[in-house]
Amino acid sequence: MIGAVGLGAVAACVVVLVPMGMAGYHLSRNKMLFFSGALFITLAIGVHLTPYFPSVTDFVNTVSSVVVFQSRRDSCLSHLHDVVWDVTPDVDDNTTSLYYHKSWAWDASAAAVSACGFQKLGRSDAADLLNGSWIVVAGDSQARLVAVALLDLVLEPERMEKIRSDLFKRHSDYQIVADEIGMRLDFFWAPYALNLTRLLEGFNRNRNYPDVLIVASGLWHMLHFTNASDYGASLRVLRGRAASLVSSFEHDEAATGSVLARPPPHLFWIGMPTLINSMLNSEEKRERMTDALRAAYEEQLRESSLVRNGPFLLLDVESLSWNCGVRCTADGMHYDRPVYEAALHIMLNALLIESHQKL
Ligand SMILES: *[C@@H]1O[C@H](CO)[C@@H](O)[C@H](O)[C@H]1NC(C)=O
Ligand SMILES: *[C@@H]1O[C@H](CO)[C@@H](O)[C@H](O)[C@H]1NC(C)=O
Ligand SMILES: *[C@@H]1O[C@H](CO)[C@@H](O)[C@H](O)[C@H]1NC(C)=O
Ligand SMILES: *[C@@H]1O[C@H](CO)[C@@H](O)[C@H](O)[C@H]1NC(C)=O
Repeated sequence: MIGAVGLGAVAACVVVLVPMGMAGYHLSRNKMLFFSGALFITLAIGVHLTPYFPSVTDFVNTVSSVVVFQSRRDSCLSHLHDVVWDVTPDVDDNTTSLYYHKSWAWDASAAAVSACGFQKLGRSDAADLLNGSWIVVAGDSQARLVAVALLDLVLEPERMEKIRSDLFKRHSDYQIVADEIGMRLDFFWAPYALNLTRLLEGFNRNRNYPDVLIVASGLWHMLHFTNASDYGASLRVLRGRAASLVSSFEHDEAATGSVLARPPPHLFWIGMPTLINSMLNSEEKRERMTDALRAAYEEQLRESSLVRNGPFLLLDVESLSWNCGVRCTADGMHYDRPVYEAALHIMLNALLIESHQKL
C-alpha cells in the first residue's frame, strides 16, 4: 500500500504544479507565485494538523482542504464588495474651505472578508500582475473612469499627468502601451451594448482576444433611447455573444484534450452608478434619467443573465457609489476617484481569485 505520506505528497505536487502550468503566459508570473503560495499554505495547514500521517484519512484531509479552497473562492468572490467608506469633513489648511476626505477599505470586522485576505495592490504588485497582458476597457464614461483609475495605479505619476488630458477627450478611443510592464490598454468609446457586441465580434473574427475585458453600458442608452426593453434586448444579444466567446475556449480545450496555452478572457461588467436626479446637470437628463427608469434598466440587466450566472463578473458601482454617498459626486452621475479605485481593486482581487478557478 502506498503510504498516506506518498499520496499526500502526490496531491501536493498536483495542486502546486497544475496551477503553475495553467496560469498561462498572459497574466504574470507573480500571480502564479501568489496562487501556488496560497495553496501551499492551505496544504501545509492540512498536513501539519496531523503530523504522523497515521492513516489514509490524511490524504482525504489534504484533498478536502483543496475542496475547501474551492468553495472559499466562490465565497470570496461574493464578499468582494464588502467595503466600508469613510467620508469625513475636513478643513483645507490653505484655503480654510471645507472639503470631504473620502477613503474606503474592506470591512475588516467581517470574518469572511478577513479570511479572504483581500488586498489593495500597490503599483509594483499591480504591474507584476498585469505584466504582459492586453486589457480592453470599453463603454461609456463609467468605463473611461475605470480606465483612468487603472492607469493611475500602474503608471508613474509624471507619465499619468502627461496623458490625462488625452484620456479625457470625450467620445474618443485611446490606446497606450506601458512598455515597462508590457501592458497594453485600449479604451474604446462604445456607449451602447450594441457597440460592445460589435467589439466582441471583431475579436472573434480576428481570433485575437484581450486577457481582460472591462465594459460598461447603460447611461447613454437611458439618456438617448429612454427605453428599458430595448436596452434589455441589446443586453441579451451581448450576453449571447460573450457566452459563445467563453464557450469557444472551452470547446478548443475539449477538442485538443489539453489545457490551453491561455485561458479565456476575464470579463467584467461595470454596473451603473447610483443616480441622484436632482443633481444631474441638464434638464434633459433630469427628465429622462428618472429613478423609475434607472430601476427598470437594472431589472433588464438582471433578467439578461449577463452578470448573474452569466459571462461577466459585476463590478457593483451602484453599491459603491451609494455607500460613498452624495458627497462623492458633483453631477449625480459621475463619482469621485475613490469609487472607481474601489471598483478597480475589486477587479484586481477578482482576477487573482478567478485565475485560479480551473484548478
Ligand atoms: C497646502 O499647501 C501646501 C503647499 O502648497 C501643500 O503641500 C498642501 O498639500 C496643501 N494642503 C492641503 C490640505 O491641500
Ligand atoms: C515584466 O515581464 C518581463 C518578462 O518576463 C520582465 O523582463 C520584466 O522585468 C517584468 N516587469 C515587471 C515590472 O515586472
Ligand atoms: C455605436 O452604435 C450606434 C448605434 O448603432 C452607432 O450609431 C455608433 O456609430 C456606434 N458607435 C461606435 C463608436 O461604434
Ligand atoms: C422600445 O423598444 C422596443 C424594442 O426595440 C420597441 O419595440 C418599442 O417600440 C420601444 N418603445 C418606445 C416607447 O419607443
